[in-house]
Amino acid sequence: MKFLLPTIFLAFLIIGLSFVSSYVLSPREEEKSVWGYLGSNGPAYWHQLNETYGTCKGIKQQTPIDLKVEDFTNSTKIELNVIKPTDLILLNNGHTYQVQRSEGTIEKPALHEDATLKVDGETYYLYQYHFHMPSEHHIEGRDLLLEGHWVFKTSSEQDAKVAVLGVFFDLGERDEPGLEPIVEIIDKQPVEVNDHVNITISLSEQIFKRVKTVYSYDGSFTIPPCTEGIRWFVSSDVQSISPSQFKSLKYVLKYNSRSTQKRLDGGEPTSHGPWKPNID
Ligand SMILES: *[C@@H]1O[C@H](CO)[C@@H](O)[C@H](O)[C@H]1NC(C)=O
Ligand SMILES: *[C@@H]1O[C@H](CO)[C@@H](O)[C@H](O)[C@H]1NC(C)=O
Ligand SMILES: *[C@@H]1O[C@H](CO)[C@@H](O)[C@H](O)[C@H]1NC(C)=O
Repeated sequence: MKFLLPTIFLAFLIIGLSFVSSYVLSPREEEKSVWGYLGSNGPAYWHQLNETYGTCKGIKQQTPIDLKVEDFTNSTKIELNVIKPTDLILLNNGHTYQVQRSEGTIEKPALHEDATLKVDGETYYLYQYHFHMPSEHHIEGRDLLLEGHWVFKTSSEQDAKVAVLGVFFDLGERDEPGLEPIVEIIDKQPVEVNDHVNITISLSEQIFKRVKTVYSYDGSFTIPPCTEGIRWFVSSDVQSISPSQFKSLKYVLKYNSRSTQKRLDGGEPTSHGPWKPNID
């Protein structure tokens, strides 16, 4: 008995240490290659996680960037239209919550024929929209609570062009009625990773009416493989969400935001300036 207790203790110590080493010191291969937002799977390491993620190193025209108030003085004219909501689903892809059509597949949803972005005589169709928390784009060195990305594509099967509309949300005096269907689902039962639910939602209709001033630049996807040649439109019209909507979205989105990248015009991210959002 005298020697038994120390022996049992030692045995537990060894078992414990082997767990620590297998789970902390040498994560399994597949865990290493899955991109995310924290630690060694985070944005600074994306280019090392897969040979196809090289562009994420941030060489040419990467997104997001730090925007300046004066960027919005040169607004690009875009026309946003959405006629009627179609069969939509809300899915959790493990990185964000996304809304898209139920037609097509989860990986390749059908385009919304009735939701369009027109610019310079070209028509883009809505593909999906999703959320980043906090915002990925910054304005004058600061982020906002949430950014929605509406991803559009031209109809070409072979070489579709992609355009993304970025819309900021921040705490304001009212809630965003268009977000309520998502908040209700989260509050009842969050969507599991790789799962989806049917949803009736008119967020695009509500937001598209309020987007007036957009800054346009050529950037990239903000997730691997960080593909460039994406036409970006970022709206300076900040939308209001309520504290309870923020809390619900935070519960599922946690932290899913890439850091700002070098601007093509050489403008460095600024320090926190006196800028305050004008929340609609
Ligand atoms: C890299 O990504 C491709 C495409 O998603 C995938 O097929 C491949 O298994 C990945 N390689 C590694 C090492 O994870
Ligand atoms: C304004 O935008 C146009 C078109 O995007 C661009 O060609 C022009 O250089 C911009 N002007 C300034 C002052 O940024
Ligand atoms: C979701 O919508 C699809 C397509 O409209 C339908 O087939 C399916 O039954 C719906 N699922 C639920 C749970 O309502």
